[in-house]
Amino acid sequence: MPVTVLVGMQWGDEGKGKVVDLLSENKSIVARYQGGANAGHTVVVSGKQFVLHLIPSGILREGKTCLIGSGVVVDPSSLIDEIEEIKKMGVNAEGRLFISPRAHCILPIHRTQDVANENRKTQKKIGTTGKGIGPAYSDKTSRTGIPFSFFNDREKLVSAVTALVERKNCLMEHLYGGERFDATEVLAYIDSIAPKIMPYIADTREKLRIAMENGEEILCEGAQGTMLDIDHGSYPYVTSSNTISGGVSTGLGISPRNVDKVIGVIKAYTTRVGEGPFPTELHDETGQKIQDEGGEFGATTGRARRCGWFDALVARYAVEINGVDEIVLTKLDVLDKIEKLKVCVAYEVDGKRVERIPDDTSILERAKPIYHEIDGWNSKSAGATSMDELPEKAKEYIKYLEEVSGAPITIISTGKGREAAIIL
Ligand code: IMP
Repeated sequence: MPVTVLVGMQWGDEGKGKVVDLLSENKSIVARYQGGANAGHTVVVSGKQFVLHLIPSGILREGKTCLIGSGVVVDPSSLIDEIEEIKKMGVNAEGRLFISPRAHCILPIHRTQDVANENRKTQKKIGTTGKGIGPAYSDKTSRTGIPFSFFNDREKLVSAVTALVERKNCLMEHLYGGERFDATEVLAYIDSIAPKIMPYIADTREKLRIAMENGEEILCEGAQGTMLDIDHGSYPYVTSSNTISGGVSTGLGISPRNVDKVIGVIKAYTTRVGEGPFPTELHDETGQKIQDEGGEFGATTGRARRCGWFDALVARYAVEINGVDEIVLTKLDVLDKIEKLKVCVAYEVDGKRVERIPDDTSILERAKPIYHEIDGWNSKSAGATSMDELPEKAKEYIKYLEEVSGAPITIISTGKGREAAIIL
């Protein structure tokens, strides 16, 4: 199985960081294909907690090569901070981390624009992370962005930055009413950061090609989740990249023919950060309990995550759209103290039963969940490393989720640490 893709099946925060860390043991390369520092992957190794935003979680395994593909938007300041942070904790990224020269650079002006855009009174909030993701991807597709390859060509860089700042100032003046940017300052910023970031720039696609030719194992790490995909998620309440497994081809330059396996990661319940429809959201004590037990606060922004029941329609949709072969179920232990559990099996929309995720977000906004109720186990699953250690009711819940999702559950995560997992 040389190329495996790992994707989030819900609205992100499914616990992919820990799963990448688990699965990367026998991989030689771990590669990110989309997103940016909007992601927050928390991994606990030997009691030490690492929060990674841009660096693939494979960095925590010695000797693994980590790649950031062309589909990622990279905030160099944030990446450098992260490299320094993990270095303090004993992990060295030098010589193991490489960024594609085609990846686009997030500049401070992108972050300012992101926040200004969210603060516009005449527009609905998306609830972005404020990390400049949308503006950087917009510039990329408008062909006005700054890929890292431009850092090597002064003339190209100056001309691109000048044109970009001109466009941004037009927006600042006429749309956002904020302060103007200065191209000289932007260039000075790039000049200060370039010596730190450029040693990491390398032909990531070539590294992947050679690895594939040698039959080495590659793990492609998705960020966010299926329902946040720009094309297939709950638009406009989505992120600006293709989070689904298809993003591997565009974001890393790996042909779809070379992808051998897709692993989907899903929580035993659902969470969402930011605005947008969430049919199974709980606004009661149970939601609060899940939030507290699960520590459901964003690793990137610290925002409280909205919590709700497992949505089988979302799970089936993710299985279908990503071609999920196997499911990793995470955070089962968070439900240890909940007496009655619910799983959404269909929606009621305008008096009709709907069993598939609608292709129109406004329908999803009107959807009312229809639930199947299951007894909770009210005992400990936390820390279990084998099925035998799980309460019977927890096993029944897992079996039911597997049935309604349409793919086998092969790993169950029962806690934060690397060792708290049942591998089937
Ligand atoms: P952006 O990616 O910062 O533009 O934010 C767009 C939407 O995606 C917002 O609802 C964010 O809360 C959500 N989002 C972005 N990254 C993540 C993530 O890593 N986990 C969960 N939600 C995310």
